[in-house]
Amino acid sequence: MPVLGLITAGGDCPGLNAVIRAVTATCTAAGSRVIGFRNGWAGLMDDDPVPLDRDAVRGILGRGGTILGTSRRDPYVHGDGAASIAGAVARHRLDAIVVVGGDGTLRSAARLDTEGISVVGIPKTIDNDVAGTDVSIGFDTAVEIATAAIDRLTTTAEAHNRVQLVEVMGRTQGWIAIHSGIAAGADVIMIPEVPRSLEEVAAILRKRHDGGRSYSVVVVAEGVDLRSDHDLPADEYGFSRLGGVCHSIGPALEELTGYETRVTILGHLQRGGTPSARDRVLATRLGAAAARSAQAGEHGMMMAVRGTEIVPVPISVIGDRPRAVPGELYEMARVFFG
Ligand code: F6P
Repeated sequence: MPVLGLITAGGDCPGLNAVIRAVTATCTAAGSRVIGFRNGWAGLMDDDPVPLDRDAVRGILGRGGTILGTSRRDPYVHGDGAASIAGAVARHRLDAIVVVGGDGTLRSAARLDTEGISVVGIPKTIDNDVAGTDVSIGFDTAVEIATAAIDRLTTTAEAHNRVQLVEVMGRTQGWIAIHSGIAAGADVIMIPEVPRSLEEVAAILRKRHDGGRSYSVVVVAEGVDLRSDHDLPADEYGFSRLGGVCHSIGPALEELTGYETRVTILGHLQRGGTPSARDRVLATRLGAAAARSAQAGEHGMMMAVRGTEIVPVPISVIGDRPRAVPGELYEMARVFFG
């Protein structure tokens, strides 16, 4: 029977344990074996295996984080490419590796597959920017968390007649911002895909306040960055650290409008904790589909969401660009600004 490797790599998100459970339970029910590896690609590169069976994945469905751990170490950037991964594949006699990752991780997985290592990908990231799938694991929970936070910040903004900026994650894409902003009725939403000057934002706020409103809520995607990319600090893997752009946008808007302004950065709150029911179900469906596909000997595929279906698509669909928020969605949201 097949032996599958399993990793979770890149930034964590709610739903990773649900997907580990789904892959493991689906495989063990069919008589296949699953070996997890700790901390993403690092566990394959350093040979750090965790045997998984049905009992090992009991009680984790609703738990945040990942029992396998994760990291941003990448075989092509921080290792010897396919060589050490091939070593782990041979040592553990893996028929395929199920890779749960965002676009960076899945890009490396796609490359490994072309170099002879069988992979099956599963898209996860709160950023929701993986190309080729309508949605990724973790996004729904992040939007729920952000929406609840914006709702709360709205009442305190109203009570104090303030402008409240809420910064959400998403890197170069504004998916969390546009969805949570629409859901919470934000007065302006700023996303990287549709650059807006602070003067434009200030004009919207002034018009709103001139019309009798005494407070405003502005949702800002962290990637709406006033700084250029090379100014950003990087983590130990050279991954640029976003977050904090509102510390400059807030005072600048206050200066332009004269309205008292406060800033809240939601940060990792959006990634931690229990997954929503929708993410649990999505993770379970994607994990089961990946397990079936890998056991059937398919490789070079990513399990994708297309409408209400889970479909295998060539993992090369990842391409070299993240998936952007469509202009029409932003246009629709604009009607509610101000
Ligand atoms: O990619 C997911 C994400 O949460 C981004 O939205 C954010 O910019 C980044 O990870 C934060 O990474 P870290 O946890 O390494 O600071």
